Amino acid sequence: MPDPRCSCCYDDTFDRRLAEQELRDYRRRGPGRASRALVDALGRGDAKGRTVLDIGAGVGAVHQLLLERGAAAATDVDASRPYLDAAREEAERRGIADRVEFRHGDFVALAPEIKAADLVALDRVVCCYGDVDALVTLAAQRTRRRLGVTLPPDGRIARAVVGLMNAWQWLTRSSFRIYAHPHARVVAAARGAGLEPAGTAAVGMWRLLVFERPILTADSR
Ligand SMILES: C[S@@+](CC[C@H](N)C(=O)[O-])C[C@H]1O[C@@H](n2cnc3c(N)ncnc32)[C@H](O)[C@@H]1O
Repeated sequence: MPDPRCSCCYDDTFDRRLAEQELRDYRRRGPGRASRALVDALGRGDAKGRTVLDIGAGVGAVHQLLLERGAAAATDVDASRPYLDAAREEAERRGIADRVEFRHGDFVALAPEIKAADLVALDRVVCCYGDVDALVTLAAQRTRRRLGVTLPPDGRIARAVVGLMNAWQWLTRSSFRIYAHPHARVVAAARGAGLEPAGTAAVGMWRLLVFERPILTADSR
């Protein structure tokens, strides 16, 4: 079992070649469907003036689009140095790098140093991390308004596919593993941190789960 807190294996799995390839695809074709759906869900109502925490941002699509829709500032925390460099390069190209703080490392280890944000994204990240409870709990604790998570579908078929993918990882001697965590664990972790489920959607081969922090009124206190 690989150490889920090891960011060196993320640098190897999400390496420079992959980061450059994804950046080229992103520039040519724009963000993928899951990222677009997540941006729409997080920015619903109004993204203007909001702060964003994009955990495992990859080349940075989610926070870049939210900043372009008027969000005030973003933090990108990524365990892969090459992906973080690609996100910074793209933010510079778009003229928004001065509104992004880039942090390299495992979010679960860095969480005590990471500021809470209005909008928090875990876009295709939960499937890359073993300790789903810690990852989602810490992300939810840092969510002031809305948390969006994209992840593989629930159930036996998804877990069988992921099992085959992990067999390939093992055969190629990679220590990286993919996870099809039960959605109930994600929901329980988000609820445990005070968020409420606010919607789900199927987006191609991904599932989108959205959570919101209830607004406390004088009556509900
Ligand atoms: C499959 S990529 C997804 C990238 C991007 N969010 C997207 O959807 O295109 C997973 C990303 O999450 C990062 N990641 C995984 N676990 C992480 C953790 N615990 N802390 C920070 N980054 C993490 C990886 O380094 C990688 O950049």
